[in-house]
Amino acid sequence: MQKMAAQGVSCCLLFFCLVLGASSRKAVRNSTQSPPVVIWHGMGDSCCKGLTLHFIRLVKEAIPGIYVLPLEIGSTVEEDIKNGYFMNLNDQVELVCNILSKDKKLQNGYNAMGFSQGGQFIRAVAQRCPSPAMINLITFGSPHQGVYGVPHCPGESSDICDWIRKLLNYGAYRSLIQNHLVQAEYWHDPLNEELYRNKSVFLADINQERGINESYKENLMKLKKFVMIKFLKDSVVDPIDSEWFGFYKAGQAKDTYTLQESILYKEDRLGLKAMDKLNKLEFLSVDGDHLQFSQEWFNTNIVPYLN
Ligand SMILES: *[C@@H]1O[C@H](CO)[C@@H](O)[C@H](O)[C@H]1NC(C)=O
Ligand SMILES: *[C@@H]1O[C@H](CO)[C@@H](O)[C@H](O)[C@H]1NC(C)=O
Repeated sequence: MQKMAAQGVSCCLLFFCLVLGASSRKAVRNSTQSPPVVIWHGMGDSCCKGLTLHFIRLVKEAIPGIYVLPLEIGSTVEEDIKNGYFMNLNDQVELVCNILSKDKKLQNGYNAMGFSQGGQFIRAVAQRCPSPAMINLITFGSPHQGVYGVPHCPGESSDICDWIRKLLNYGAYRSLIQNHLVQAEYWHDPLNEELYRNKSVFLADINQERGINESYKENLMKLKKFVMIKFLKDSVVDPIDSEWFGFYKAGQAKDTYTLQESILYKEDRLGLKAMDKLNKLEFLSVDGDHLQFSQEWFNTNIVPYLN
């Protein structure tokens, strides 16, 4: 009798525990179901101000409780903005890889969003630092094949932009400028392709222009999805095609080629062709200027990649 009662109690307890366990698992899952999101901001912006705050809010409103890490390059907001112009990109990528490897919340993987130049920078993180794992990479108006012109500057940085244009005209591929001016490190001169290939310390490297680093290819192919957003009326990036990996055909600056027409793709130097065949590449467009999109557009087109 006693034994049966005890069995009944433990049975009940077991049942209770199962129910409790299930409900608490559910509760935990509700708040942490979506992987964390890492954001690399654009030129003239920072981790913790302006447009970045707006993008963080869009993510958090769509997915309450999600962990969002906006990358800060430096120890203050001012330093972060300055480094977006003047800190060598290879050092920036290394710094970010360090931040990501130390963040316990990211160790089960994360989704990455890069805005403007932050997009090709965070792609370099995917290629160089496979751990922790990047799941989906989403780039907004990011010139993956570089730029040949900065017609307008985002935000209120017009003075600094005029100065940068002067430096780029003076000699983007001079080593002093290459090593210290971020925009020179993704400057792509179609009239001097060979010089670009030889001298670009960042973009030519991550785009496998000089040789093929197999680990870049392997690592990039680990992504589940690589989403590229092109802004059809972009007044900051020249050419706009660069946001989908296209660029000016060599020797002139008018006609462009697409990713699918490029040597990068045809020789599959970076794994993009293989990824395309596996439906891992998504090409989205917005009929607006640089980084201009609505919350509705974001919720419909981007949030599904973050869930
Ligand atoms: C390839 O990339 C990895 C990761 O950045 C780097 O450690 C390695 O030195 C590179 N290999 C070559 C041959 O450049
Ligand atoms: C690029 O590098 C190659 C190999 O070092 C060299 O032969 C060529 O002259 C260089 N071209 C330019 C334009 O710097």
